[in-house]
Amino acid sequence: MKNNFNLIAPVYDGLAKVVFGKKLKQIQTHFLPVIPENANVLIMGGGTGWIINELFNTGFKGKLTYVEASERMISLSKKNCEFSESVNFIHGEESALPADRQYDVIITNFFLDVFSEVRLDEVIVQLSKQLNNDGIWICSDFQNTDRFGHQLLLWFIFKFFKITANLESGSLMNFDHKFKKIGHSRSENFTLMNGLIFSSVYTSERLL
Ligand SMILES: C[S@@+](CC[C@H](N)C(=O)[O-])C[C@H]1O[C@@H](n2cnc3c(N)ncnc32)[C@H](O)[C@@H]1O
Repeated sequence: MKNNFNLIAPVYDGLAKVVFGKKLKQIQTHFLPVIPENANVLIMGGGTGWIINELFNTGFKGKLTYVEASERMISLSKKNCEFSESVNFIHGEESALPADRQYDVIITNFFLDVFSEVRLDEVIVQLSKQLNNDGIWICSDFQNTDRFGHQLLLWFIFKFFKITANLESGSLMNFDHKFKKIGHSRSENFTLMNGLIFSSVYTSERLL
């Protein structure tokens, strides 16, 4: 099975902290305060779920749908969650989402980088259909830079997850191009680690 994070789930956050310190949390939480208080939010591939408490601790009072393919990741998420009554946990992939459900906010943090290009195109198109016309899509991930140290680190990360999670993706794609193809543009952008990691708010170009 591709993209199977069960093996790595118990140590995922610990490893991320050893390699990146607080930066991965900082980048993922940066735009949480822009989420409208009563929004209908979808988080795809949220991992161990620490972000759920972070979201509600901003004062968020809306509904959250949390989709995770890894059984171990989702059970950790449920265990750590302090706001279970407002969260709909779905163990599965994007295909498990009710097709007629629309969301005001979609969050994909270090999620799009697990897919091959063909699959990525499909996932982005499906999710965009489930985003309200005036909704926002918050995406945080790695991005390619011309620094050798970054390229080496990314090479190592992709190899590591190929071995531990049978990662479908072999390299990092340009997500901004993919968003442009579905008619979404960055309305806000934040980077850390000299541009290696970013968080962007995407909105439909019709609204800009
Ligand atoms: C690289 S991890 C990132 C986890 C988390 N967002 C973070 O940054 O800490 C990717 C996560 O996406 C989940 N995942 C992979 N493919 C998925 C899919 N098609 N649908 C839902 N979750 C998926 C994995 O189980 C894993 O937890």
